[in-house]
Order: sequence, then C-alpha cells, then structure tokens
Amino acid sequence: MHPSKTSSIEEAPTAATAPAEGSRIAALEQALRDETAERRRAECTAHIQDQAAQLALDLIVTEPDIAGFFAEFTRKLVEETEGQACGVWLLDDDRSQCDLWLAHLHKRLYTPGQEGWDDLTIPRAAMSEQLFTYRPGWTQTVVYTSEDARLPSAVKRFNTRERVDTVTVAPLVLGANTLGWIVLSTGGVSGCERAWQVALIEAIARQATLVLHQSQMADQRRLEDRRKVVLEERNRLARDIHDILAQGFGAILMQLQAAQREGGAALPPRVASSLAAAVNLARTHLIDARRSVGALRPPAEHGRDITTGLRRLAETARLTTDVPIEVILDDLPIFEMGVEREIMGIAQEALTNAARHARARRIIIQASAPRAVGFRLSVADDGRGIAHDRRDTGFGMTSMQERADRIGASLTIVTAPRAGTEVVLAWEPPLAGA
Ligand SMILES: Nc1ncnc2c1ncn2[C@@H]1O[C@H](COP(=O)(O)OP(=O)(O)OP(=O)(O)O)[C@@H](O)[C@H]1O
Ligand SMILES: [Mg+2]
Repeated sequence: MHPSKTSSIEEAPTAATAPAEGSRIAALEQALRDETAERRRAECTAHIQDQAAQLALDLIVTEPDIAGFFAEFTRKLVEETEGQACGVWLLDDDRSQCDLWLAHLHKRLYTPGQEGWDDLTIPRAAMSEQLFTYRPGWTQTVVYTSEDARLPSAVKRFNTRERVDTVTVAPLVLGANTLGWIVLSTGGVSGCERAWQVALIEAIARQATLVLHQSQMADQRRLEDRRKVVLEERNRLARDIHDILAQGFGAILMQLQAAQREGGAALPPRVASSLAAAVNLARTHLIDARRSVGALRPPAEHGRDITTGLRRLAETARLTTDVPIEVILDDLPIFEMGVEREIMGIAQEALTNAARHARARRIIIQASAPRAVGFRLSVADDGRGIAHDRRDTGFGMTSMQERADRIGASLTIVTAPRAGTEVVLAWEPPLAGA
C-alpha cells in the first residue's frame, strides 16, 4: 500500500517543527536516564542498608560487647571506603559534652586507656567542640571538604597532614535524641563515590545507633538492679540494727534507770556508781545504734528539708540524753540531696559527740542562711572541751571533715578546756555554670 499524500506530509516534519520535536525526544531520553540512575541509586542504597543490617546482626552475635561491635563495624566502614580515619564520638550521659570514644587511624584501632590513645594525633578537642556546637539537634549527614571553612583549623591541619579530602559526619540519632557521631575521613574520591560513602555511613550509623541504644538501656537496667540490691541490703541491715540492737539498748536503759529510781539514796555508793556507768554505756550504744540506722537508710528518707531533719535529730537525741538541746533555725534553703545528706551527717556527728563526750549543761544547734545565700550550721556545747590528746582517736572528726570537703564547705571546730566546743559548718552554693 502506498502511503497517501496526507500521511507522507505528517511523517515529514516541517522545518519549523523539527527542532521542537528533537528536543522533546532528548528531554524524554534524559528523563529516562535520570530515572534509571535514580533507580540504580535507590537499589544501591537499599543493598547497602541491607548489608549493614546483616553485618550488624552478625556482629551482635560475634561481638557481644558494644566496644567490640563498634570496633568491627567501623573497621568495615574504613575498609569499604578505603578511608584514612574513622572516629566514633559519643555524648556523655547528661548530654553536656562529647568525646572521642574509639578511632581507627593508620589501619589501627584505638580505644580509651589502651596503648597509644593519649598520643593519638586526631584533633580531639577541636572536633568534639565542632560536633557539639555545630547545630543543635541536627540529624542530617554533613559532608565537609578538607579545607571547609566550617572546620576548626586543627582539623584542617590534620586533613592536610593525613591527605584527607572529604570528612563525612553522620549523627547517631534516635528519635529526638542524638547519641553521638560517626566521622569518616577519606582521601580523593569522585562525586559518585562520595554519594556511595554517604549512603554507607548512614546505613552503618542507623544500625549502630540501635545497638548503642540497646546497650545503654541494658547498662541502665543493670545499674538500677545493682542499686536496688544495695538499697535492699542496707535497709535490711538498718532494720536489724534498729529492731535488735537499738530496741535492746533502749530496754536495758529503761531497766537500769528503774533500778536507779527504786534504789535511790539507799544504794551503796559503789553499786550506784556502777549503775550510773551502765546507764551511760547503754545510752552511748543506743545513740550509736540509732546513728547507724540513720546512716544506712536510703537518703530519700531524710527528705530534703533540713529544718525538719535538724528538729528530728534533736528529738531523737533528747530520748537518750538528759542534756537540754535547744534548736534555733532561720528560714533555710532547700538543698540538693547530696548536700543535704552531708550536712545532716555532720550535724548528727557533732550532736552525738556533744551529748556523749562534753559533759555539757546545754547544747545549742543553730542554722541560718545569711544573706539568703549560703548556709551556716553551728553545734555548740558548754562542756569540757576536746582534750588535745583525744582529737584523733575516733572516726567522727575525720568523717565530718570528709563530708564538708565533699560539698566544698568549710568546717571549723572551736574548743577550749572547760569552755565548751563549737562545730561550725559554712557552705556556699557553687556559682552557676561553675
Ligand atoms: N563536743 C565534744 N566535747 C568534748 N570532747 C569531744 C567532743 N567532741 C569530740 N570530743 C573528743 O574527741 C574524740 C574524737 O571524737 P570522734 O568523734 O572523732 O570519735 P568518737 O566520738 O570517740 O568515736 P566515733 O568514731 O564513734 O565518732 C572523742 O573521743 C572525744 O574525746
Ligand atoms: Mg564521734
């Protein structure tokens, strides 16, 4: 069949329509090429992710500890990319700073505490600062060239020295939390290789984040379990001391005091003095037993309110001594648990010492918060003073000093023969940001 005239006119483009048609075909071909490249990239990324997931699974089985897992994971990363260096940087528990946790350099693995770690030439401080302050909450991989203006100069010097061309940084992100970063430094790579590297480091970062998170959760659980066991044991000890020893001493004390009352003036002097000595001993041991219970009980039971704590302390001491105890308290600040615990420990020891050793007529506990900042505690007695040769004979004095040191407070003990003793604690809150 011959082609009709009309059809032959349709097939042969006119001079005006030919270029338009040609460019449409070229655009179509380009779109096709782009789509094919895009599909290849997607396939490649999926393949990489698949491989990374597989590798992660294999490593979880063979490297049960998290450091071993990361060491192997990052070694693979360096191998695959022919990288110069690779570091894993982790944020600390309260997310207030980040530090290098492990590194591969010159085909060697470095971890903290192991040989060579301290001499590592990776610019640790500069890179920590860069990662930590770069942009809060960033979740995307960042690719730097070796001379990138955003990089600190110490890092640029390292790049030149180690012939690093590209620094790829992938955050280890879980939900809204950044746990750390993987930093990969590689030599001369093409644009295509760079895209592949990004896909690889991201796939590894994703798997590594999950494993890291799992391990941190397991660590927390272990810590919590251990803490619970210790608390339970301390509680059990406190209960035993309270129920057996303290109750026992209390009962003995009551019996002895009853005997003193019954016997009265009729008691032969030697019996009366033995009874008085026995009463004193029972009192002393009752105080000690109660103090041990207080020290063993979990700190939460004290509460953070120092006013209540000091009043309760005096009430308990009144049960075991005839010396009047006066408590004078200003409005006091609320302390952090750690600070409150040390202050209460010091008050308790100073009061016990005064009741036990001073032969005082009066004990005064005074606490104030001068200028609404800081805190001053005084436990004073009007007894016989601390004998010079007795000062280092027990644990109490040392333990008070250690407690004061722990919270950065100053402890002063003023004493004179027959003029009494005053234990003064002065504490100032640390400056904000210090
Ligand atoms: N307020 C005080 N008045 C008189 N002497 C005191 C006073 N405080 C302490 N001392 C003397 O200082 C010594 C040392 O006190 P420290 O608290 O270190 O030990 P301790 O009370 O004997 O024993 P513990 O280890 O149970 O506290 C006491 O044995 C006592 O002789
Ligand atoms: Mg003491």
